[in-house]
Amino acid sequence: MGDKNYGISPDTVAYMAQEIKNVHDLNIELAIVIGGGNIFRGVEASVKGMERASADYMGMLATTINALALQNSLERLNLQTRVQSAIEMKELAETYIRRKAIRHLEKGRIVIFAAGTGNPYFTTDTAAALRAIEIGAQVILKGTKVDGIYSSDPIKNKDAVKYQNISYIDIIKKGLKVMDTTAITLCMENNLPIIVFNIREPNSIRNILIGKEVGTKVTNNIN
Ligand code: GTP
Repeated sequence: MGDKNYGISPDTVAYMAQEIKNVHDLNIELAIVIGGGNIFRGVEASVKGMERASADYMGMLATTINALALQNSLERLNLQTRVQSAIEMKELAETYIRRKAIRHLEKGRIVIFAAGTGNPYFTTDTAAALRAIEIGAQVILKGTKVDGIYSSDPIKNKDAVKYQNISYIDIIKKGLKVMDTTAITLCMENNLPIIVFNIREPNSIRNILIGKEVGTKVTNNIN
């Protein structure tokens, strides 16, 4: 949503698309899971009395809107893309099929996974963890508004300390709100590293992938 309070900022989507292109130019296979909070926050709606499952389905539809916006921006940069949706909407996107997603990646296409896991009660982060494991990804890059994981919220607390490395279990034990526990444990059980970084910092995804120390790395072994 960029600087707006809600909706889609064309400049932000174009910026994301360029960031993704910079990575794709390195011949790296890349799949994207996008959230929908700029359009609809399921959890917040459920707090205000809406049934959680209905609110979550609305959130999944919001991620699909974002997926189509990002697809459009990527195609303007002449990238090949495929959107796969976890909820069947065959007139506007392919349905999620794991082997097909892998094939698209092998062909150099950027795959955008829409509609989360297709199930209520699961977050976008969990969808990202699940898809990453399914396609055999080597790493999850989680773009956020801050440049890594801190001991407490760095926006509210000036004394917050940034971790260079942290283990999955420490995130859970310390109750750090970086990803939900379902997503973290899925990554932990499957040894899938997570790197949390600031998506607003230009070139950060590319810098991570060329080996620069950016953000916070989450693994089992933090030596
Ligand atoms: P390859 O077979 O590996 O070449 O992949 P492909 O994606 O190019 O082949 P396919 O013939 O499956 O798809 C051609 C175009 O149709 C692509 O833009 C797909 O995203 C799109 N497409 C495929 N299946 C569906 C579907 O179920 N719904 C929608 N809306 N588009 C689809």
